[in-house]
Amino acid sequence: MFKCLNLFKLSFPKQLNKFNASSNRRETALIDRKSSFPWGKVAFFVTGNFHKFSEARHVLAEYKVAGALLKVRTIEIQDDNIENIARASAIDTVEQCGLPVFVEDAGLFIDALGGFPGPYSSYVYRTIGTQGIIELMDKVKKRDAYFHSVVAFSSPEKPTKCFHGKVKGKISREERGNLGFGFDPVFEPLGGQDKTFAEMSTKEKNRFSHRARALRKFARWYTSAF
Ligand code: IMP
Repeated sequence: MFKCLNLFKLSFPKQLNKFNASSNRRETALIDRKSSFPWGKVAFFVTGNFHKFSEARHVLAEYKVAGALLKVRTIEIQDDNIENIARASAIDTVEQCGLPVFVEDAGLFIDALGGFPGPYSSYVYRTIGTQGIIELMDKVKKRDAYFHSVVAFSSPEKPTKCFHGKVKGKISREERGNLGFGFDPVFEPLGGQDKTFAEMSTKEKNRFSHRARALRKFARWYTSAF
């Protein structure tokens, strides 16, 4: 796998330097994508979140796909639908760099709060955080919630495809665990023996998580469609 990553680092340096160029972006591609891109073997994940990348790398490895981390400043539109958010940033990234890529967008949907924070999870995490969620849920008996993830794959040649994954669970009464990221310390997935995601290793979280479920659908398609 690392051979592949190095190969790509070596193959794309000029192109990577041109990610911010505003014109002729597609023309900057240095590879003959159709003939030499290792479709089904390497997948570029555009994210600034190393936890997400680490989870994705393990899932993709189950399908013998090498996950490569690509850091690109991409647009994140405001929308009530996380598929629209993921789709827009995948298309924007392809326009910037001319490579096949996938992005992932996720949200936490709490039943008792009418699905809040949902597509606004990132803002809510930055503002009130996990403790704020615990406080909002104080005295709330029905604690059902779910995470929803959308993986959007886009490439210069093919229409964008989206893959969904969900995991049901409950909001814990207190924060527990110090692994993972975001709302992991307050989310207990169904079937996870009352552990929060933050009390699970990456491997264990991947047995349940919304992201792993969406990524497995993507990986099954990616390894058979080309
Ligand atoms: P993003 O827009 O996909 O990065 O996700 C929005 C917010 O949802 C993030 O800031 C996290 O707080 C939260 N989130 C997304 N996925 C997860 C997860 O797997 N565990 C915990 N929190 C998550």
